[in-house]
Amino acid sequence: MTKDTTWSARFEGSLHPAIALFNASIGFDIELIEYDLTGSSAHALMLAHTGIISQSEAEEIVAGLEQIRQEYRQGQFNPGVEQEDVHFAVERRLTEIIGDVGKKLHTARSRNDQVGTDIRLYLRDQIKQIQQKLRDLQGILVKQASAHVETLIPGYTHLQRAQPISLAHHFLAYFQMTQRDYLRLGEIYARTNISPLGSGALAGTTFPIDRHYSASLLGFEGVYANSLDGVSDRDFAIEFINAASLIMMHLSRLSEELILWSSQEFNFILLKDSCATGSSIMPQKKNPDVPELIRGKAGRVFGHLQALLVIMKGLPLAYNKDLQEDKEALFDTVKTVKASLEAMTILLEEGIEFKSNRLAEAVNEDFSNATDVADYLAQKGVPFRSAYNLVGKVVKVSLAAGKLLKDLTLEEWKQVHPAFEEDIYQAITPKQVVAARNSYGGTGFEQVRSQLENAINQLKDPQ
Ligand code: ARG
Repeated sequence: MTKDTTWSARFEGSLHPAIALFNASIGFDIELIEYDLTGSSAHALMLAHTGIISQSEAEEIVAGLEQIRQEYRQGQFNPGVEQEDVHFAVERRLTEIIGDVGKKLHTARSRNDQVGTDIRLYLRDQIKQIQQKLRDLQGILVKQASAHVETLIPGYTHLQRAQPISLAHHFLAYFQMTQRDYLRLGEIYARTNISPLGSGALAGTTFPIDRHYSASLLGFEGVYANSLDGVSDRDFAIEFINAASLIMMHLSRLSEELILWSSQEFNFILLKDSCATGSSIMPQKKNPDVPELIRGKAGRVFGHLQALLVIMKGLPLAYNKDLQEDKEALFDTVKTVKASLEAMTILLEEGIEFKSNRLAEAVNEDFSNATDVADYLAQKGVPFRSAYNLVGKVVKVSLAAGKLLKDLTLEEWKQVHPAFEEDIYQAITPKQVVAARNSYGGTGFEQVRSQLENAINQLKDPQ
C-alpha cells in the first residue's frame, strides 16, 4: 500500500494492505457518489459566496465535479481500495482534472459533515422513491378491492374461520397499513432533510461559512443547531430502517396469506405462471417463491435495524469510525424494500387469480354465521349473552347431526327459541351476514364502498 494517502503527511510508515482493505469503504460508499458531487458543489458555491474562495475557483470546482459525474455515469470512474472512500476518491480525481484549485474544496469541511450530508441527500431521494412504490402497490390494492367488493371470503381470528367478509375489505386493510407507511416516511423525510454541512469535524470551523446558504442550495429545510449532533446523529437512519421494517412486516403478513391461500388446504387462489416457480424434483409442484422471499427478506431488514441500534448504542460524541458501518445496512434496506414492494405489486397485479367457486363454497360450509343467529335473537329482545349460549348449544347439536345452521328446519329453530321465524334463513346467508355489518369501518358492502372511495381519494392526494 502506498504511503501517499490523503492524510499520510504526519505518518512515517505505510498502512498494512489488509488494514487498508479493512478500513476502506469505497467498495460500498461509491453508491453515494452523485450525492457527494452535489454536496461538494454546494459547499464550493458557499465558499465563494462567503468570499473564502473566489467565484472563478468555485466555478472550476463545480465544472470538475460535473466532469466526474459524467465519467462515473459512463463507467469511466472506478476508484480502487487505495482511495479509501468515495470522498477521497472524488477529491483526488478533482485535483487531477483541475489541478491545485481542487485542493481548496475541502476548506472548512471535514469528511464527517460531508458523509453526513451525503447519506441524508441519498436517503431523502430514496424515501421519495419508496413512497412512489408504496403508491404503486396501493393502486393495485385498490384495483383488487374494486373488483371484489361482493366477493366473499372467510375472515379469521386465531386462523380459525370467524365471520365471512368482503374480499375488498381484506385488501383495504392493507391499504390502511401502507397508507400509514407512506405518511410515516413523509415524517421521517422531514427529519432527514436537515443539513449537517458546516459542522466540520465536530466543533464547527474558523472560517466565516454560511451553513444556511449551502443548506438551501441543497434543498435542506434546516441546519443542525449543534455541530457535535450534526456529525454524529443517525436517528434519521434508524427511524428510516424502522419504517422500512414496518413496511416489510406488512408485506410479509400479506405474503403469508397468499402462501396459505395458494396451498391445497385453502385453495383460494391460483398462482399464475408468471409469478410461480417449480420444484427440481416434484413435477406436480408450483411454489409461491415470491411471497416466501418477501417474507424472508423481512428478517434481513429487521436485522439491519438491530445492527444500527447496536452500532449507535454507547457511541461517545462525536464521529467514530463505527459510523462507517451505517451504510451497508442502509443501502441494503433501501434495495430490499424497493425490490419487495415491486415484486408484491407485480404479484397482486398479474400473479394471482381468485377461485370464485371455491370461495363461495368456503363461506357456506361452516358455522361462521353463528354470531348472526345470536344477533338475530338479541334484536328480538333476548339478552345477547343468553342468545350466545343458546346458539352455542345449536352449534353443538348441529355438529353432532352433521348439519349446518342453514339446514335446520324452522321447527328445530323454534325448539331452540320461539322468536325464530322464517326470516332466519335469509339472515344467515353469507351475503346477508356480510351486508349486515354496516357499522363504520365494518365489512358491510356499503361501508366497504365508502372505504374504497376514501382510499381512491387518498391516492389522488399529491402529498
Ligand atoms: N468513510 C467514512 C464513513 O463512512 C467517512 C468519514 C471518515 N471520517 C473520519 N474521521 N475518518 O464514515
